[in-house]
Amino acid sequence: MSTLVQPPLFDADFQAKLALLIAWRRDVRRFRTDPVPQSLLDHLADLVQLSPSVGNSQPWRLVSVADPARRAAIRGNFERANAAALQAYRQERGALYARLKLAGLDAAPVHWAVFCDRGTTQGEGLGIATMPEMLDASVSGMVATFWLAARATGLGVGWVSILDPQAATATLEVPPHWKLIAYLCIGWPEEEHIDPELVRHRWQGRTRAGRIVLER
Ligand SMILES: Cc1cc2nc3c(=O)[nH]c(=O)nc-3n(C[C@H](O)[C@H](O)[C@H](O)COP(=O)(O)O)c2cc1C
Repeated sequence: MSTLVQPPLFDADFQAKLALLIAWRRDVRRFRTDPVPQSLLDHLADLVQLSPSVGNSQPWRLVSVADPARRAAIRGNFERANAAALQAYRQERGALYARLKLAGLDAAPVHWAVFCDRGTTQGEGLGIATMPEMLDASVSGMVATFWLAARATGLGVGWVSILDPQAATATLEVPPHWKLIAYLCIGWPEEEHIDPELVRHRWQGRTRAGRIVLER
């Protein structure tokens, strides 16, 4: 049975602010080192439980990485993966790649490793018989929700994917059926930008918005 409640009015002012929030959400790699209140992180972790998930499975698992030895191992993992990635680029692209800052692992006061529990029974398998990757997709959606919610509080989030996921899983000693989806650097941004870092540094521009690719 559903309870009849009056939903809040998301008025034009709110909608304009929401558009600004979406426009100003950035992938942040330059952080101040001052701490983030645990109460704020707890609030955000609670909030993202409301994210959509296939079968209502909520397969995301958050691991806060604070141990210096584990952080150093993740840092080494990134260095190796980034050096290997650089090898794929030649000439000017390679030189540009080498100049990009692709993680804020050193300064960010908070690190969260976000996993998908591919063995979860929550959701009773609904929606994943045909597309099992929807569990991973649900976790990505949660991260997007978190990214916006964090930005609304002034917190910056940087998604690091230049990592060997198996090595990261071993470093963090999580169950082997947990799949690494995102390693997040979280903290107060050192600078604010309306344009993405990769656009600013001429790596990749944005394609124009609002286009439906095919009509059927
Ligand atoms: C799945 C995913 C993985 C990403 N991995 C990295 C990464 O390893 N390093 C990095 O600097 N940015 C990473 N990013 C951030 C993107 O580069 C960034 O979202 C994009 O350039 C657009 O910039 P914006 O997020 O500031 O709008 C990732 C983003 C997503 C969604």
